[in-house]
Amino acid sequence: MPYAHITGWGMYVPKKVLTNDDLAQMVDTNDEWIRDRTGIRERRIAAKNENTSSLAVEAATNALRMAKLAPTELELIIVATSSPDFIFPSTASLVQDRLGAEKAGAFDLSAACTGFIFALNMASQSIRSGQIKSALVIGSETLSRLVDWTDRNTCILFGDGAGAFVLQAAEEPGGVLSAVMRSDGSGGDLLSIPGGGSANPATADSVASGLHFIRMNGNEVFRFATRVMATASKEAMDKAGLKVEEVQLIVPHQANLRIIQAAARGLKLPMERFAVNVDKYGNTSTASIPMAVCEAVEAGMLQRGDNTVMVGFGAGLTWGSLAIRWTGPFAEGGPVRIRSYRRSARLRSWLRRLWRFIEGLIWGRGRDSSA
Ligand code: UT7
Repeated sequence: MPYAHITGWGMYVPKKVLTNDDLAQMVDTNDEWIRDRTGIRERRIAAKNENTSSLAVEAATNALRMAKLAPTELELIIVATSSPDFIFPSTASLVQDRLGAEKAGAFDLSAACTGFIFALNMASQSIRSGQIKSALVIGSETLSRLVDWTDRNTCILFGDGAGAFVLQAAEEPGGVLSAVMRSDGSGGDLLSIPGGGSANPATADSVASGLHFIRMNGNEVFRFATRVMATASKEAMDKAGLKVEEVQLIVPHQANLRIIQAAARGLKLPMERFAVNVDKYGNTSTASIPMAVCEAVEAGMLQRGDNTVMVGFGAGLTWGSLAIRWTGPFAEGGPVRIRSYRRSARLRSWLRRLWRFIEGLIWGRGRDSSA
């Protein structure tokens, strides 16, 4: 049975930085409160011309470049996101088109902040079953578009960004070793966007009542998160047959430093064994784990052959974890020019639209003449 190795990783964050002091100009808050209660110092905000799919494409480009894998080799693209460009088409389809991933099936996965963990497990299972040989998993968010910038309970927490992994099959043991996926829908109302779906379709009234913004019971979510982070991590280790001391790095969802500290206490591990970058980016939901991985690798905290556990929680309620043996890129060949694939993809996409238009004219004329 093949193993699903992580052979490429990449991240992308928008340039605009929003500091706690900036936020103090917008709502009744201050830098000290935000740092004490969350550990966040600043977050990134997408520019007008950026959105979830464009951030995803940039992160994916970096991951594919690292894996030296052409987008045309990909067989599956999963975008985990809580802030898709549209309800449909999926953000993953937009990414597939822009990368020119001709052979890839693409879909979005909605499990809020746990989405990246679930998506990575789904892609890994597709590889392990022998169905496919390569996959791209992306967590991408522009939560700044879904935040009520007058609500100090939520607007201080979230930020924009994207992270991506390339997964490839190999017989050599390693990669994703075990997974834990859990949900408790009874807590669905604790963190939600109540409007814009089929339950409360978008109307002038729903917008006036702010139903299209993130609503959260912070204290309840905090309690739930501190309960599940350590146990889910331990469960993934047990399933993979790993002892805590055999795991070099824990990569937790970056929501609140105090939640990560609680997980460290639960696992009886020092904070040095945890990847933390919540101070720089806030909570980027599905993007937070792959972004933290990218920075941990860059800092030398995660190296080839190391064991790592990634653990997340979020709306749903959902939570999950993965034990992974870190591999790194397989390919030894020259660089793959992902940007030139993107240029040809743009041309191909345009030609397809043009062809559809011409076909429409032909069919349209056909119907007219038979009428
Ligand atoms: O991906 C999952 C997403 N969500 C989460 O992970 C959220 C988990 N929850 C949390 O991180 C924390 O509950 C928060 C950071 C949201 C809140 O921290 P807290 O320590 O639980 O504060 P609190 O809600 O109990 O509020 C304490 C006080 C309140 O004032 P009073 O009632 O004690 O006078 C709040 O009104 O702090 C006040 N407060 C603020 N003050 C300054 C709430 N938000 C702010 C703010 N600035 N931004």
